[in-house]
Amino acid sequence: MRRVQIFDTTLRDGEQSPGISLSVEEKVEIAHQLARLKVDVIEAGFPITSEGDFESVSRIATEVNGPTIAGLARIHEQDIERAWEAVQWSDRPRIHTFVGTSDLHIEHQMRSDREDILARAGEAVRFAKNLCPEVEFSPMDATRTDVGYLSEVVAAAVEAGADVVNIADTVGYTTPVEFAAFLEELQERVPGLADAVLSVHCHDDLGLAVANSLAGVQVGAGQIEVAVNGIGERAGNASLEEVVMALVTRRDHYGVEVGIETRQLANTSRMVSNITGYDVPPNKAVVGRNAFLHESGIHQDGVLKDRRTFEIMQQKDIGLEGSNIYLGKHSGRHALKDALEELGYKVEGEVLKRAFERFKEIADNKKTVTAADLEAIAADEVGSFEGKFVLESFRVVAATGRQSRAAVTISHAEQGTFEAEAEGEGPVDAVFRAIDAATSIKGRLTDFRIDAVTGGKDALGEVRVSVEFEGAEYAGRGLSQDVVEAAARAYVRAVNVYTAGRMGATRVGAKATP
Ligand code: KIV
Ligand code: ZN
Repeated sequence: MRRVQIFDTTLRDGEQSPGISLSVEEKVEIAHQLARLKVDVIEAGFPITSEGDFESVSRIATEVNGPTIAGLARIHEQDIERAWEAVQWSDRPRIHTFVGTSDLHIEHQMRSDREDILARAGEAVRFAKNLCPEVEFSPMDATRTDVGYLSEVVAAAVEAGADVVNIADTVGYTTPVEFAAFLEELQERVPGLADAVLSVHCHDDLGLAVANSLAGVQVGAGQIEVAVNGIGERAGNASLEEVVMALVTRRDHYGVEVGIETRQLANTSRMVSNITGYDVPPNKAVVGRNAFLHESGIHQDGVLKDRRTFEIMQQKDIGLEGSNIYLGKHSGRHALKDALEELGYKVEGEVLKRAFERFKEIADNKKTVTAADLEAIAADEVGSFEGKFVLESFRVVAATGRQSRAAVTISHAEQGTFEAEAEGEGPVDAVFRAIDAATSIKGRLTDFRIDAVTGGKDALGEVRVSVEFEGAEYAGRGLSQDVVEAAARAYVRAVNVYTAGRMGATRVGAKATP
């Protein structure tokens, strides 16, 4: 059976989602989980865009074994060299270079002409191929490109040594039948394409990314580019779990195989949601929490008699069955480490130590610590480790009809400890103002969301904030049974992301996009 490769771009296109800002540690953690999921390719980032992106791609190339590790590059030589410097540490490195080929992109974005782009695309692939054994070429906005011109560009890329040619529906414009016909015509016009892997990269602006990707498979695509939970630019990319389960469940129809360990799908989806702060809608196909719930009496009756009456997939196949993990205050560090590993988190050293301290604090107040609590703790600790400011303690006085008053103690890894007090409209506002005063960094809160991780009065509270510093927004997330503390932690995290000063990987809504 034909094997279709799953190319995951959660850490590159996914990270370009508005409001997502991942640290190096978070990206490495997700990459390890993607390797457990057995994706074929991890696009780890866009190394030229920032030091942070370069470091994440290099770390992933060094530490994550199994999948091919790809780095993105425009057709500029310095981009390609930077991508190579980052991916060279992998056993299976790949440079992924791209350029816009539609007239709109050529004229308005590249301010160039067809002839120039045609020549530069071929040169870029040749240059990349001299550095790296495997090169992928993407004509961006391919589906809005004149098919005659696109054929010339693709032929030039193949001629120059491209191993993979990725047809991008960059703005999610095409439709399944049209896309299939377009790809067939392209393959007819470029016979050399048969020697390369044909790939598809579909965006979800019209909600057709998965359907378009599957249409691509039906006319010979050997690689599909996807992101976990469908995150990505604007409306996102084709969702990994939906594409994979469509191919697995309807193998009879598509007649292809994938190498994915489907039992890791639920873990991976939850990890990406926890770390990015992008919720999975309850009714989301495959991994939504309602995907296997039956509400109507007729459905429940049918499922009790035989699950196949109303279920086309089994929960266990995607690892969605309820977890048996319950830890309590007597559980030790080993038990925590094992439980986290089962949930997909490979935490060690300093991160494990901090996660254990958080776990103990929580277990002292909460009878049982569930899998959802542990995932939230792990996601929080993986990300918070890099920050220089740490919230040591806070005190807040709040009363009806009066301004709230807060005092905070914040330490900085190099500058010592700072204390400050402030008044505000309610306890959260007062704490945020006190943090501004203690750090001498003034932020403007632009978004505040609060959730309970599990049910019950003793549930962990999770707060997500967006804070504006110097005109750009930065995201933060905090976790605690005390919601004011969760808010303070989230705010300090946003300050840390801002002060780390990493471009691209950190700024919300101000990223370097292709
Ligand atoms: O959507 C797009 O065109 C891309 C390319 C870089 C492949 O993300
Ligand atoms: Zn894209």
